[in-house]
Amino acid sequence: MKILVTGGAGYIGSHTCLELLNAGYEVVVLDNLYNSCEESLKRVEKLTGKKISFYEVDLLDVAGMEKLFEAEKPEAVIHFAGLKAVGESCKVPLKYFTNNLSGTINLLNVMEKYNVKKLVFSSSATVYGVQESPAYTEEMKTSSTAVSSPYGRTKLMIEDMLKDICAADPSWNVALLRYFNPIGAHESGEIGEDPQGIPNNLVPYVAKVAIGELDHINVFGDDYETPDGTCIRDYLHVVDLAIGHEKAIVKLNEEPGLVIYNLGTGKGYSVLDVIKSFEDACGKELPKVMAPRRAGDLPEYFSVPAKAEKELGWKAERGIKEMCEDTWRWQSKNPKGYRK
Ligand code: NAD
Ligand code: UFG
Repeated sequence: MKILVTGGAGYIGSHTCLELLNAGYEVVVLDNLYNSCEESLKRVEKLTGKKISFYEVDLLDVAGMEKLFEAEKPEAVIHFAGLKAVGESCKVPLKYFTNNLSGTINLLNVMEKYNVKKLVFSSSATVYGVQESPAYTEEMKTSSTAVSSPYGRTKLMIEDMLKDICAADPSWNVALLRYFNPIGAHESGEIGEDPQGIPNNLVPYVAKVAIGELDHINVFGDDYETPDGTCIRDYLHVVDLAIGHEKAIVKLNEEPGLVIYNLGTGKGYSVLDVIKSFEDACGKELPKVMAPRRAGDLPEYFSVPAKAEKELGWKAERGIKEMCEDTWRWQSKNPKGYRK
């Protein structure tokens, strides 16, 4: 089966391409390389010994996408391509609405035109917003007023759009995958997360402190109502997350209509837990400073992953130790990421 992976050169996309190739799928990648480079795909080819057809095309370029669909005839799409910086989305929301919303609408129109109606969409736990319990289940109500950023709203709006499309036309099959906090890297240390500039997220930031590129970690808030006062999140290994996408493709082949799954471990770790685990992985203590709370952060949430286990046969296998060790292997082997 041939799968189109949009955003396939990026962090989660490249790991997913690797798992798809290893599972015997053919892979076509569409990416405009805005936040990635082709080197990630070359490394995936080397690791798997298999080829990827790569198209440097933007989601806003409908003619470019149509050419790809005509030439490659994909049978399903995994849609990662999008902008994802929460803070930036608050400053330039229109950029996010244009890229993520218009880009996705273009993709869906091209899919419909070429009768490709199986889609896995990269959603996020951010769509839950504020809930009464921190243990998030797929049945919880989502609402745009509870979501804390324009980025999060693009995810929610796309989810809602896909629900409407599936309700109107039962020949569509769509999996909305709500990721919790993906971290880690492939165990080879050959592919991993390669943020440009100063990272926004905790683990890439910690990795840059460990490699000596940044001088200390800022812990955003130590006065939350959690056991150690720092925020709790459900971190999951990117390889487990990648495998979840392959399982979602298997599910779509059963033609279930629209399905929603949390992809997380079900366990929460605090900011200080993660830093400690990273210190163990890199074998040194890392300088840290207690800093004010970051606007928009919730004290605690984690997934209830039972539905994905029951219906997809998917369960996160890798723990926080492997997540930190694999991140460190990638970072120390590639101190400047994919750039030489
Ligand atoms: P990433 O930035 O590494 O990958 C996204 C890829 O999409 C990049 O290669 C980028 O160049 C490409 N892209 C962006 N806009 C494009 C466009 N208009 N046309 C073509 N290509 C375009 O990000 P990631 O961490 O791999 O995330 C993948 C998806 O998962 C995103 O949709 C993101 O919102 C979602 N997600 C990520 C996280 C996370 O913590 N990393 C959490 C929840 C959801
Ligand atoms: N943190 C720090 N210092 C840093 C960076 C982060 O203390 O330098 C803290 C944050 O305050 C938060 C925790 O580490 O308490 C995790 O922060 P991340 O930025 O790594 O992750 P978030 O949980 O804020 O965001 C992630 C994704 C978003 C997504 C959201 C959905 O990055 O794309 O989960 O739940 F929207």
